[in-house]
Amino acid sequence: MQPKSKVVLIAIILLSIFLAAYIVYSVFMQPVEVEYQSREILLTVDLPQAEISSNMSVDEAIQNRRSVRSFSTTSLTLQDVSQLLWAAQGITDSERNFRATPSAGHVFPMEVYLVAGNGSVQGLEAGIYHYNPFNNTLEKIVDGDQRYNLSQAAHQQEWVYEAPISLVITGDYQKMEDKYPEGNISTRFVDMEAGHIGENIYLEAVSRGLGTVAIGSFYDNQMINLLKLPSNETPLYIYPVGYKA
Ligand SMILES: Cc1cc2nc3c(=O)[nH]c(=O)nc-3n(C[C@H](O)[C@H](O)[C@H](O)COP(=O)(O)O)c2cc1C
Repeated sequence: MQPKSKVVLIAIILLSIFLAAYIVYSVFMQPVEVEYQSREILLTVDLPQAEISSNMSVDEAIQNRRSVRSFSTTSLTLQDVSQLLWAAQGITDSERNFRATPSAGHVFPMEVYLVAGNGSVQGLEAGIYHYNPFNNTLEKIVDGDQRYNLSQAAHQQEWVYEAPISLVITGDYQKMEDKYPEGNISTRFVDMEAGHIGENIYLEAVSRGLGTVAIGSFYDNQMINLLKLPSNETPLYIYPVGYKA
């Protein structure tokens, strides 16, 4: 081959590689824009009262807690869901509306969502629900089985897709900053509260024979769009829950 033809060939190959990389980037890698969408409550579901008893001690639950990343398709009961949500943010002092997890300055900046698949929870339609701890209800905000979309938002972690349900924790940094404006203290407080909620979910899951894993790795924008989060809420954690496979 002539040296000139070689140069042309190399140039064509390089151009093709660049073009292919550009197409892959523009189709798959571009960050998704945040779209704050208004949301309406499509359905309200009453949750059964949380049961304040367990056959397992707190010590046993701590000892047995392990992150689970392989889930069976066995469905959960509405009681399981109620119990997990109660452990996350349930009202445990109805006089003052204090919660199952502590909150700096009793600001309560955290929200919890349930992502339930088809047939994942007995008697509950697939969808994304907001947990309303004040009247112990689920408020459906998105229809259909969204577990695949949730797993895509969670950097394609397949256990998020496999688990029958996931709980999503969000925090309102502004709400905390309104009370604690100095320095970074409000950011720290909200992040700490997410940790308290997460550990309660872990231990509640263990005490019911279920498993979970803390998922902190996800695309914020995809989460905001999928859950139709209001602009004041930041997604902080995903907890897929189910029976260990
Ligand atoms: C802040 C935080 C973020 C985490 N994010 C992920 C995650 O995105 N995916 C995952 O599979 N595990 C995640 N984990 C779980 C850890 O990998 C797990 O806790 C660790 O391997 C120790 O195992 P153990 O929980 O069974 O003790 C996270 C844990 C924490 C505390």
